[in-house]
Amino acid sequence: MQPDNSIATPVIAGNWKMNKGPSAARLFARRIRELAPWSDDRTLALIPPAISLTALAEELGGVEGMLLGVQDIHWQEKGAFTGETSAGMARDAGASVVLVGHSERRHIFGETDEETRLKVKAALTAGLIPILCVGETEEEREAGRVAEVILRQLDAAFEGLTPEEIARCLVAYEPVWAIGTGKTATPRDAANAHGILKDRLEELTGTRGGAGVPILYGGSVNAENAADLIAADNVDGLLVGGASLEPESFAAIAEAAATARR
Ligand code: PGA
Repeated sequence: MQPDNSIATPVIAGNWKMNKGPSAARLFARRIRELAPWSDDRTLALIPPAISLTALAEELGGVEGMLLGVQDIHWQEKGAFTGETSAGMARDAGASVVLVGHSERRHIFGETDEETRLKVKAALTAGLIPILCVGETEEEREAGRVAEVILRQLDAAFEGLTPEEIARCLVAYEPVWAIGTGKTATPRDAANAHGILKDRLEELTGTRGGAGVPILYGGSVNAENAADLIAADNVDGLLVGGASLEPESFAAIAEAAATARR
């Protein structure tokens, strides 16, 4: 089975977190248009704060190989949920991808595995591509629980989905201890975790290769380490936080990753 999101890999996604309002997003977009790091041998995604999505979509909407997204959604379509954004609204504003279960959502805002399941389903129903984030804390790693934790998060979020629905998702392995800390997993750590996830995707979809679901690595990725990480087994892309905030560094990561894949 081919993934029906037909996403070209490597995927290089920039998660801006709570950085850049609409004006700053527009400046970024204009500079990235000059640098034009897109090409048919990669997929780029920019994931700004929801309030800046329309500005980015006005500048970059329709650029081939460049997807836009949001960092979170609520699972209900609409209603009395003050402060929330639905998948359909994000889609309407120009999103085609959505992060689900980012470690900051899980650890700062107390998001549960059950909520990630509801969000993945809502994203798929609205035609968004979910990027499901999984990853262990330092404590869990030291206790030898990497596989247990990431598989629990994966199984919970994909529970009840058909293989075809799973094939429309992306997964990101982001060890919590590597996010925003400057500590990166070694390519070997990444390959190990990605191999574990790939095996489970094969089981869940009943296909060799896990229906081609791309697995991204995230956690202190930068232009210097991108090539080594992308060269690791089963690393199909990178989810970049801090280093995605400057157009030059985001473009350099995209170039390094695509070059290393050739
Ligand atoms: P970082 O963040 O690259 O700043 O470590 C990655 C992420 O949280 O997606």
